[in-house]
Amino acid sequence: MPHITEGWTRICDNLLRDQISDLSELHRGARTTEERAAWAVVEPLLAELVAADVVLISAPMYNFGIPSSLKAWIDQVTFPRMNLGHRRFVVAAAQGGSYTPGRPRAPMEHHVRYLSDFIVGHYSVEPPISVVAELNNARVDPALAHLQEAHEASLADAIASARAAARQVIPLEEVR
Ligand SMILES: Cc1cc2nc3c(=O)[nH]c(=O)nc-3n(C[C@H](O)[C@H](O)[C@H](O)COP(=O)(O)O)c2cc1C
Repeated sequence: MPHITEGWTRICDNLLRDQISDLSELHRGARTTEERAAWAVVEPLLAELVAADVVLISAPMYNFGIPSSLKAWIDQVTFPRMNLGHRRFVVAAAQGGSYTPGRPRAPMEHHVRYLSDFIVGHYSVEPPISVVAELNNARVDPALAHLQEAHEASLADAIASARAAARQVIPLEEVR
């Protein structure tokens, strides 16, 4: 995923200056050659997001946060005062350790909390359904072998929660 460019930030400035936030009008922010080149990257990504009723974000935790490629996508498709209305978001997350409330590393959870805060705060939609499989490092790190059972339990919970989330957001009989 390419990072945003100066052309992208100028589109954003144009949108703010002219108070354009309607999803179908955002292309009007791209005016110069540089801005149109930036819009050519945004356009298919934004079209995909806007066309979706359900947006599934699948993200491992990298260094307490989200992968930089996912952040680059967020930067590309996010514009001021964006309202994604009826769209439902589902976050499927994998973490090597455990960041559940009460654990010593809980305050360092900038992964699912960031995604949830961002999605609600910026897209004006309902809170995402979050599904987290934790302690994945116990599968490979001998020092965490004693946590393997807790990992397996977390994974089983996550799979069950993912199925429940699918039933909740996709009104199709074939979802089992
Ligand atoms: C670059 C990198 C950084 C990571 N940083 C963390 C971290 O800060 N905290 C954590 O709990 N796990 C961390 N992990 C472990 C991953 O979150 C874990 O392996 C997860 O299962 C990866 O998802 P995947 O199996 O879908 O690739 C890191 C893994 C990688 C590759």
